[in-house]
Amino acid sequence: MLDAGLRAALEKAAGREGAADVTLAGMTTLGCGGPAALVIVAGDTAALAAILATASDSNLDWCVLGRGTNLLVSDRGWEGLVIRLTGELASCRADGERLHCGAGLPLPRAAALAADAGLSGLEPLAGIPGSVGGAVAMNAGAFGANMGDLTESIEICLPGETRLLGAGEAGFAYRSANLPPDAVVASATLALKAGDREAIRQATQDFRRRRDSSQPKGSTCGSVFKNPPGGKSAGRLLDEAGCKGLSAGGAVVSEQHANFIINRGGASAADVLELMNCCRQRVRESSGILLEPEVRLLGDIELKTF
Ligand code: EPU
Repeated sequence: MLDAGLRAALEKAAGREGAADVTLAGMTTLGCGGPAALVIVAGDTAALAAILATASDSNLDWCVLGRGTNLLVSDRGWEGLVIRLTGELASCRADGERLHCGAGLPLPRAAALAADAGLSGLEPLAGIPGSVGGAVAMNAGAFGANMGDLTESIEICLPGETRLLGAGEAGFAYRSANLPPDAVVASATLALKAGDREAIRQATQDFRRRRDSSQPKGSTCGSVFKNPPGGKSAGRLLDEAGCKGLSAGGAVVSEQHANFIINRGGASAADVLELMNCCRQRVRESSGILLEPEVRLLGDIELKTF
């Protein structure tokens, strides 16, 4: 339960009311998890920096929840502040070969707007369902393209300040960026290439079709585990370890792609975690490789240690 004074200070910083005890299940694509202490919406960088300063002064943990496509929230919820981005923090503007995107903008929408502006580069990433900010912060990728490779600069918010980082300062690596620990990505400027609108639209559609044909539909959090360095992909290792079709409660490993867990209805976070532990153990026994999660865990949940 958040202290009433702190809640009022956060709402003042945001310039709008927050919502307490809202379950986060509906804000994630996996669809499980309990409530946060407070959910608050930031509409511009000044509000975001002020929210972070207020939370920081009170030692309140926070996280930014974009599209919730890569998140497993504990069934008991999380005693922290969830920040959502809107307004200019979810906007998009083309300027020559640059695309300025608010962090809260869905990546598929950014790809569609790039195509409309005749800008090429985002086509392979168009099927990634997350937000631009989430995709930058974890250097999301698909079909050999990575968000970091397209990023020219990032605007980050820290408690009480906003900073512009060049891509070289962001420390992009496989599925990660090395940003200051309490930084929130507020926007990103992507460096794209001018091209033919129709050809870009067609390529975007083709990539989406390829993705749709190999990845399951339904309630998932995308790839559950990262691909281990070199060698076989996590999906193949999980497949070879016989994980397809394994289930725990309402959670089941996809028959189509072994690195996806589907909430087939009523799955708890505990079900998903149990399945992740089981899959990890199987792969460890069959190949000696310990898979690392790609999905982010929020709240009092963690994977078994080996
Ligand atoms: N495979 C199997 N069995 C399976 C699944 C896959 O043998 O059950 C094999 C495939 O045949 C293929 C290889 O494993 O030879 C790799 O599979 P896939 O092409 O589906 O790619 P991936 O490595 O599993 C990555 C990203 C995806 C992204 C795709 C498309 C990671 C962890 N995942 O998947 O990203 O969409 O490439 O480029 O890097 C995400 O990050 O959430 C995500 C979905």
